[in-house]
Amino acid sequence: MFRTFTCGQLTSDDVGTKVILAGWVSSIRDHGNVIFFDLRDRYGITQIVCNLPQLESDFVELIKKIRQEFVIQVMGTVVERSPETVNPKILTGTIEVAVENIKILNSSDVLPFEIQESKKINENTRLKYRYLDLRRQDLRENIVFRSIFTGKLREFFSSENFVEIETPILTRSTPEGARDFLVPSRLNPGNFYALPQSPQLFKQILMVSGFDRYYQIARCFRDEDLRSDRQPEFTQVDIEMSFVEEKDVMEFSERLIKYSIEKTTDFEIKTPFLRLTYDQAMNRFGTDKPDTRFGMEIIELSEIFRDSGSSILENILNSGGTIKGLLVEQGENISIKDVDNLNEFVKQKGGKGIGWIRFRQNEVVSPLKKSLKESVIDKLKTRLEIKPGSLLLFLGGENLWVCETLGEIRIDTARKLNLINEKALNFLWVVDFPLFEFNREEQRLQCVHHPFTSPKIQDIEQLESQPLKAKSRAYDLVLNGTEIGGGSIRIHQKELQMKIFSILNMKPEQYNERFGFLLEALSYGAPPHGGLAFGLDRLVMILRNEDSIRETIAFPKTQKGFCPLSEAPGPVDWNQLRDLYIKVDFKPKE
Ligand code: AMO
Repeated sequence: MFRTFTCGQLTSDDVGTKVILAGWVSSIRDHGNVIFFDLRDRYGITQIVCNLPQLESDFVELIKKIRQEFVIQVMGTVVERSPETVNPKILTGTIEVAVENIKILNSSDVLPFEIQESKKINENTRLKYRYLDLRRQDLRENIVFRSIFTGKLREFFSSENFVEIETPILTRSTPEGARDFLVPSRLNPGNFYALPQSPQLFKQILMVSGFDRYYQIARCFRDEDLRSDRQPEFTQVDIEMSFVEEKDVMEFSERLIKYSIEKTTDFEIKTPFLRLTYDQAMNRFGTDKPDTRFGMEIIELSEIFRDSGSSILENILNSGGTIKGLLVEQGENISIKDVDNLNEFVKQKGGKGIGWIRFRQNEVVSPLKKSLKESVIDKLKTRLEIKPGSLLLFLGGENLWVCETLGEIRIDTARKLNLINEKALNFLWVVDFPLFEFNREEQRLQCVHHPFTSPKIQDIEQLESQPLKAKSRAYDLVLNGTEIGGGSIRIHQKELQMKIFSILNMKPEQYNERFGFLLEALSYGAPPHGGLAFGLDRLVMILRNEDSIRETIAFPKTQKGFCPLSEAPGPVDWNQLRDLYIKVDFKPKE
């Protein structure tokens, strides 16, 4: 028998018991006649004490050979720790195991880094030795939490009659806005599979088959620039339901989230979640993923500044622009240098700079003070109920640009002033998105979500004449300013789906080639349906209070999409390429 208990199990109740433990030596403290080991396994740490004078000499020699991260087996008796050595922070902190016998099960080379310090070292090294990094307690706990959380999701889906169905990984492109990862087909020379950006088309087709309630913990693959909340392969909690409207999917999702979070954490989740329209989100928070853990919402100032006396501001308004602002109540904590930096930031974004007014007890300070009428200052004070010490920041220009720029400044300022309640979980839905947006670079219309999203019924008639006015039946789920989910009611009529493709400037040959199978499926009795997908990695990241989804994934990729552990992607043998009829036209990087 390797062990009778784990390293996280023994307490004062076990004093006197003979035990066998096995694990890794996480630290060694040599006090001459007494050597202490911290023995670690997945479940915790148990202190092992070796009283050398009581042990035979061969045995003492063996103990002295033990180094950090050796795998050992310990036989001994549980004893009470002396009061001054009790560690109240861990469950096993009142006891230690007095060694009677020890076996070295395996040795370890000197480590490339201290395990507990691994978060501080360079990411490449950390990921190269990810198996060591994963021995770190908080990372291990994240991975275990993720597993338990996923289990609770599955439990809830089952209890609500959902069927878990796997969809293909080797498939055709599904447009979710990123580049595809391609896989060459040996049996179909010159042809490629695409790894799924999401199971979108398959889950819709499953609704046509009548499965009615589908879910999958689905791996998705997107070749896009990586950020702290983006990985090239990630996991979605993917859902599709038949005979539903927006409120049904949203209400189900809220119950799913409430159940899984409340079963796995101390958070209490209040439903229903706040709902904002896209326009409200943009105008009040300057983003379609508002963080409502603090106030400081964007304020409309155009009316107040209309006859303000400042020609710069009046010109902006007369040429159709708006003026909006942020009222920073802790304005005294924003220095002149901070304001200069904001000015620079606004210039980088294509603006002329940021306006500001400081409201002190007996004076008002502002570069615009000379040009602004006294009455404007009074109006601001009364209408905005400005308290002394506040700083009003404002920006003029095209409405969307003003909102987005202030939205970024709002978040940065809140971080700087520590206004964000880090303990809160603020969920909200954003609804009533536009169906299309105009891609300036490529001079074409594109979908805000994916092209299978249904327009609002009342907007269908004018889709072709006024596509940019149409709203969609999409909904995004936002948590603490991060988009953690998105979904929609889908198009279930073939004709409408073809119309959307044509508005996107696709010719029938093109859409039939790419999506013919979906169009065909829609023509054989497709039920009304809709769904949603959560980013599991992102949700776990926030629940575990981490800054990066890499802390929730066992084997993530670096910023460059590289896996330092397996060294993927790597070059392949030319025979393999020949089998695939592929010729690489450049020298792979060294
Ligand atoms: P969407 O593209 O919005 O929708 O993706 C759903 C959620 O997946 C997460 N996500 C990511 N997480 C980590 N790394 C990435 N690269 C990444 N990309 C997306 C986000 C996002 O909200 N098929 C639709 C869903 C539907 O309509 O049902 C879809 O994939 O949290």
